[in-house]
Amino acid sequence: MPIADFSLDGKVAIVTGGSRGIGRSIALGLAEHGADVALAARKPDPLAAAVEEVRALGRRAIGVPTNVRRSEELRRLVEETERELGRVDILVNNAATTPHFGPIHELDEAAFDVIMNTNVKAVHILSNLAREAMLRHGQGGSIIHVSSIGGIRASEVIGGYSVSKAALIMLTQVQAKTWGVDGIRVNCIAPGLIKTEFARALWEDEKIHRQAVAEAALHRIGEPDEMAGAVVYFASRASSFVTGQTLVLDGGRLV
Ligand SMILES: NC(=O)c1ccc[n+]([C@@H]2O[C@H](COP(=O)([O-])OP(=O)(O)OC[C@H]3O[C@@H](n4cnc5c(N)ncnc54)[C@H](OP(=O)(O)O)[C@@H]3O)[C@@H](O)[C@H]2O)c1
Repeated sequence: MPIADFSLDGKVAIVTGGSRGIGRSIALGLAEHGADVALAARKPDPLAAAVEEVRALGRRAIGVPTNVRRSEELRRLVEETERELGRVDILVNNAATTPHFGPIHELDEAAFDVIMNTNVKAVHILSNLAREAMLRHGQGGSIIHVSSIGGIRASEVIGGYSVSKAALIMLTQVQAKTWGVDGIRVNCIAPGLIKTEFARALWEDEKIHRQAVAEAALHRIGEPDEMAGAVVYFASRASSFVTGQTLVLDGGRLV
């Protein structure tokens, strides 16, 4: 076995929001390192396309249409993964939403609930279900949450999203502290501005884009494929003594 072991051979991963953007890159990155992958998202066609991309790498893959805001669908996601792929070793909580753009006092109750239910409550529920699946095989596992630099530095335009992503950073620590006893590690990535559909309103806004580029030590915004390496690290034995951590992937913007 190599000293720095990034292999995921024989492991099974669930990736929410795996059909496009950062989640798709993460699913492909995990598969490149040997994992079989269950991908979850709402729209069936992009989900099926991403499943085919994982299979083209020679791994087993399934697509499970899932709205993470529905807990019965989260339960079905874990059940189908165990039935079709045999077990759960890795969970990547990547799906998220930010339906409101504007100052925090204009964020109404319904939108606040959608943000919290998608970005925080669903992560809590699915992590609990994945933990139970990991306890069933007794070999531990790795859970990775996708937060944001918005969870570290306050946003004036997507403030509710900032609050939800800050909650994920603490959820990472609480779960890590509680579940370490069972060999379940929990870590988190905090991307900066990445060129995906999700963030289009930000990177297409000339002022926001210019500010992001100017602030980043690398003087550019990120690409979705640049997020996968850190997730492979957290998922694999290469990070076997690391838990409760949040790694910032922002081109040096917060430095
Ligand atoms: N892009 C950035 O600049 C940036 C920066 C920091 C953090 N992040 C974080 O990175 C993660 C991925 O974002 P992204 O930029 O890759 O977004 P994206 O390209 O819009 O992809 C979002 C994915 O999540 C799925 N999804 C959305 N709502 C869902 C729901 N309710 N249930 C199940 N799946 C759902 C989408 O598929 P369906 O629509 O078909 O469900 C899609 O697969 C998010 O947690 C986001 O907060 C992004």
